[in-house]
Amino acid sequence: MSRRMVIAGNWKMNKTPSETRAFIREFAPLAAGAEHEVLLCVPAIDILPAVEAARGTNIQIGAENMYYEESGAYTGEISPDMLTDAGATHVIIGHSERREYFAETNETVNKKVLKALEHGLIPVVCCGETLTQREQGITVDWIRQQIKIAFLGVSADEAKKTIIAYEPIWAIGTGKVATSEQAEEVCGAIRALIAEIYDAETADAIRILYGGSVKPSNAAELFTQPDIDGGLVGGASLKTDFKDIIFWK
Ligand code: PGA
Repeated sequence: MSRRMVIAGNWKMNKTPSETRAFIREFAPLAAGAEHEVLLCVPAIDILPAVEAARGTNIQIGAENMYYEESGAYTGEISPDMLTDAGATHVIIGHSERREYFAETNETVNKKVLKALEHGLIPVVCCGETLTQREQGITVDWIRQQIKIAFLGVSADEAKKTIIAYEPIWAIGTGKVATSEQAEEVCGAIRALIAEIYDAETADAIRILYGGSVKPSNAAELFTQPDIDGGLVGGASLKTDFKDIIFWK
């Protein structure tokens, strides 16, 4: 097993272009030399300044969303070519906030995943259950459904490059982190599902991140779980202390 960990930030709707430039200038030296992959997913308008500020550093820049058409009459949307031309390497797909506030479904997530891969963008595919679903004991069933549909038509070779982020909705931005056992149980179930859909080699290669109130104080416990290959970090990625999550060990 030789999966390289990914520590990814998700800025959500935070930081202007000038704040982005200033942050990355300050943050880049602090993240230098990290053993793990470092990724910052930023608002669309911040991608260009982020890519410019991160040039020559170990920080990769990703988007937080993308549309699944090439171009055309889709006012307000961002195309895959726009992202790659701006220098983004990754794109978050199907974050629970997109599903909740912007009506994304498993089907649109699947279309976006396929389109991102077609353009050489690495999708960070999000999944996660609500508190009610957890209390009803249907977490794993729900996640299996989300992932199965997200990966429809994705080849094993493409799946190996893809990143999955397991983010229990009740743990996002709430300060309530899943226990390492809860997080590992679901991440392990996702890996088993990938083995079922594809094969053991694909399951062994794919990176599965945990997200939801990750901070410097809980990173080590989560990231030492066998099926957790890093984190998708919201609030704690907005400050330069994010380096403490990147250097969790
Ligand atoms: P949080 O957000 O770290 O602020 O809980 C995580 C996410 O939504 O990706």
